[in-house]
Amino acid sequence: MSTAAVIGIAVGVVVVLAAIAVLTLARRSDVRGAGALSGETMQRDRAARRDSGTESPDAPASASEVEAAGVAARSTEPAEVEDKELVPWTPPDPEALGVTRRQFFNRANVVLMGAGLGGFAAASFVGFLWPSGTGGFGGSVTVGKLGAIKDGIKQGGGFFYVPEARSWITAYPPESLPAAETVYPESLLTAMRAGIVVLSQKCPHLGCRVPECATSQWFECQCHGSQYNRAGEKKGGPAPRGMDRFPATISPTDVVSIDTGTVVAGPAIGTNTTGQEAEGPHCTGGGEH
Ligand code: FES
Repeated sequence: MSTAAVIGIAVGVVVVLAAIAVLTLARRSDVRGAGALSGETMQRDRAARRDSGTESPDAPASASEVEAAGVAARSTEPAEVEDKELVPWTPPDPEALGVTRRQFFNRANVVLMGAGLGGFAAASFVGFLWPSGTGGFGGSVTVGKLGAIKDGIKQGGGFFYVPEARSWITAYPPESLPAAETVYPESLLTAMRAGIVVLSQKCPHLGCRVPECATSQWFECQCHGSQYNRAGEKKGGPAPRGMDRFPATISPTDVVSIDTGTVVAGPAIGTNTTGQEAEGPHCTGGGEH
């Protein structure tokens, strides 16, 4: 999936969630005003009461008139307090009071922040964690024609590096196939029968990238000195097994594709199907000389 598609999905998710949040909270804010009459309505009600005779035309019409009437009626006589039983106070229902402006913005902030983080997480998952079907490491990497790869191995002095697949490809001798068929799974034998081995560049010891050694014609890890023959079988050093490998398929038109989403663990220590010994000085000192 392209980066633009991922960003598009993320933006879409954020916009939809934000719209839901705003509509939900706005509705709650409307509910707060339910039952409250506007000044205009109250005036109409008052006029209707006067017309129907249920309210005196002399009754104060506005808040200031009410206040003035109260001041005029104020007495200096001490008020008589009725002896009523006290009613215990109960706190009002916060939901009944409605949502204040501050609560609205606080909730909107939390919801929008959550929506933003959710969108980012979704985009990250889709873009980086969802297994990619083709292209790039983690999926199927098309390398090229088998003949061109074999030419590349010769030109590379026995080693052909495929950076997109983080892999090495080397030649596998046909005379070693009977031994290989007793060690390696069928998923690897397809490429080996075609004369190549596809090896992960990652050292099975602690994960360093294993370089080739042109003089010994082995792979020799610079980190702690593990050594492997050209077929990636362990020859020396602290690695717990041979180099890991990837299955490869060869199309009817001879195009080689590496399945970098499937790692096959390297062969056990002692496996030596090719019998290839060092062909010159080592690049590291960790193996048998
Ligand atoms: S990482 Fe390669 S030998 Fe340690």
